[in-house]
Amino acid sequence: MTEEKKLYIETLGCAMNVRDSEHIIAELNAYENYKETKNPQEADLILINTCSVREKPVAKLFSELGVFNKIKKKSAKIGVCGCTASHLGKEILTKAPFVNFVLGARNVSKIKDVIYQDKAVEIDTSYDETTYDFKNYRSENIRSLINISIGCDKQCTYCIVPATRGKEISIPSKIILDEVKKSVALGAKEIMLLGQNVNSYGNNFTHSQESIDFADLLTKVSEVEGVERIRFTSPHPLHMDEKFMEVFSYNPKVAKHMHMPLQSGSTKVLREMKRGYTKEWFLEKALKLREMNPMTTIGTDIIVAFPKESEADFANTLDVMEKVHFEQIFSFKFSPRPLTAAENMEGAIDPIIASQRLEKLQNMYKNSLRTLHQNQIGKKFAVLVESFENGNIYGKGENYFTLKAPAKDGSLVGQVVFVQATGVSKGMLEGEITT
Ligand code: 5AD
Ligand code: SF4
Repeated sequence: MTEEKKLYIETLGCAMNVRDSEHIIAELNAYENYKETKNPQEADLILINTCSVREKPVAKLFSELGVFNKIKKKSAKIGVCGCTASHLGKEILTKAPFVNFVLGARNVSKIKDVIYQDKAVEIDTSYDETTYDFKNYRSENIRSLINISIGCDKQCTYCIVPATRGKEISIPSKIILDEVKKSVALGAKEIMLLGQNVNSYGNNFTHSQESIDFADLLTKVSEVEGVERIRFTSPHPLHMDEKFMEVFSYNPKVAKHMHMPLQSGSTKVLREMKRGYTKEWFLEKALKLREMNPMTTIGTDIIVAFPKESEADFANTLDVMEKVHFEQIFSFKFSPRPLTAAENMEGAIDPIIASQRLEKLQNMYKNSLRTLHQNQIGKKFAVLVESFENGNIYGKGENYFTLKAPAKDGSLVGQVVFVQATGVSKGMLEGEITT
């Protein structure tokens, strides 16, 4: 075995990136005997796994790289991985010449090669890693992230991801199910299925002839012994067909939380974004989900101040919020991105108005969440216990509300217990363990 080396890795962005980092850690550990450190000063290798979805983190990347270059051990190498690596490629080496290599979001399996290739730029977005047998590493025991597809075939006009992660390819279901079984054997209770567009799963395989869709996959995962709970991110509202909605609503293993990225409540803006659905269509799906299973909570992503977004357009977004009562919202100001159709769209919104709209939306969400939480008091939740701290267990209910309840010790971690909600504190429900 080679001598032990230390790896410092910083992960930005989405759950896909978190999983990519786990793969990087696993490969470097298995083949090069790297162990993770939280201290960049003692690392032999410093990696930043970047996100390029908005401009701000990209700008921050270069100042951060500068800091790492100053504090690192003399012999340590620095690598830039992920979506910004795919997007900027060689430009990263020009702007930060001390960087040793650049590894794209779709080239993760090459990590053990690029560490030996000074100034390597591996960013091929047509590279197919769907059947690469990654070594195993998981940052969490109870929840296991599992990729079901790579890339994205959508053309949302604001989004850089198709340019950084390439065309969509589904991972053969056998590989996914084997991963699920392996995770459960190692103690996982919750399986989180990942893809840019999970509910178009099965549309395009490169290494499988199977005929399967996302609803079938959910059913198969739910049949694996030991799986307590299944979540997934993100589905596209456009592909929420009847079959998928039924498996989601009625399969008891599937957590009753749907992340349904709205982006805008205005049909006009949705058309400009090329989302493929209207305000009414989205509302119909969301309300239908609630009707099918009243436990269901819905989360969303919203972009405010897309080019030409009028006050009336924005009012439509608020109207959808009022009607759906989202349990979770990730909200952003529109950020023009290179390699996207909206980069140079006319009608940019004044940044002050953009900030005002974001603030208004976030305030409305806070108020609506307070009411939503209050409405849960008295209800009983099946909580998968994730941690025990200061005399309380913490975990998520079946519909993703976070709950806490007093307990003797941490022996319940990893188990499902019933908690009756009695109040709300610091943005979460609190309650008592019950039978
Ligand atoms: N500007 C602002 N937000 C964006 N997102 C994606 N691209 C942009 C952009 N150019 C948001 C979307 C997406 C989430 C992951 O990031 O809401 O769902
Ligand atoms: Fe994830 Fe998109 Fe950011 Fe890439 S650009 S890390 S896919 S959110």
